[in-house]
Amino acid sequence: MSTRSVRCEGLTKSFEGEPALDGLTIDVRPGEVLALLGPNGAGKTTTMRLLNGVLTPDLGTATVLGLDPWAQGTELRRRTGVLTENAGLDERFTALENLVTTAELRGMDRSAARVRAGELLERFGMGHRADARVQGFSTGQRKRVALARALLHDPELLYLDEPTSGLDPAATRDVVELIASLTAERGRTVVLCTHFLGEAGKLASRMAVLFQGRLHAFGTPDQLAADLWSDTEVRLDVGGPASTELLVALAAVEPVVQAVPTDDGALVRVRSADVTPSLVRACVAAGVDVHAVTPRARTLEDVYFEVEARAQAQGTDDGLGARPVAT
Ligand SMILES: Nc1ncnc2c1ncn2[C@@H]1O[C@H](COP(=O)(O)OP(=O)(O)OP(=O)(O)O)[C@@H](O)[C@H]1O
Ligand SMILES: [Mg+2]
Repeated sequence: MSTRSVRCEGLTKSFEGEPALDGLTIDVRPGEVLALLGPNGAGKTTTMRLLNGVLTPDLGTATVLGLDPWAQGTELRRRTGVLTENAGLDERFTALENLVTTAELRGMDRSAARVRAGELLERFGMGHRADARVQGFSTGQRKRVALARALLHDPELLYLDEPTSGLDPAATRDVVELIASLTAERGRTVVLCTHFLGEAGKLASRMAVLFQGRLHAFGTPDQLAADLWSDTEVRLDVGGPASTELLVALAAVEPVVQAVPTDDGALVRVRSADVTPSLVRACVAAGVDVHAVTPRARTLEDVYFEVEARAQAQGTDDGLGARPVAT
């Protein structure tokens, strides 16, 4: 048995001669949330469609849940759940009918599907609209129904394309908690496309950053941060902006790289957080009280913006297009 839920190598797809995805190689581990990130048009949705077997690649190979997504697409889709960007519901049908029809396509028994569909609509706050036609639904209501539909047959692997866009704050929180519990408690695997980096930071164990169809970073935020930056930042709170004298003293501490004043002290760039005690000693020696010292951990958001900035710079600098900075 494969130790990966998804593996793909060199996935390449063009539309009308325009490359949408160029040589994508990634894997997804069972039980993880992998965040697929990148600006509009980067190739995220194309990746999901390829990996669910609804689109065939020009080049490349993939194994998803041990299956070939293109030769065994129907079998695969019985074990995957999909939330597409625009919900993709049939407007003429009611919420319940939309769910039951899909469940049957996925090989579920009709009466079992009705029961489960009812429960899921209830869970997503749509129980009272189960028998109403989708055409009258708001964006968020459609998304709730589509989420219920994605979970209907209790899939092992979920492709969630922007699951919280259009949802109100409470529904967003519920969906984030739901995704976390699907993986943590139920061992499900999730490929998540989102533009909400805070959400990705909360949920994802690893991130893949696409830019113009190419993979620019792939790994845990911590690994990627270590690859991207050789230094780290410490925030020193001394109750007011650091004096020039203190900044000079801080900059003299080995191996401080740079110290800049802030409203309440200084932001000190160091090669390693191990230097923190020396910074505190330098303050004390300068007769300055230290209120707080906070190492600033790099977040998924920091990593994303740095990768994007470097991808943009590479793309314009050498005319060769961008290359991965880490894999
Ligand atoms: N069916 C299609 N026909 C023609 N071009 C397509 C098709 N699907 C995708 N593309 C093109 O492929 C590229 C990647 O699109 P994709 O939908 O994968 O981007 P995305 O990363 O999901 O973007 P977004 O964040 O806006 O959802 C875009 O340039 C898009 O125009
Ligand atoms: Mg998309």
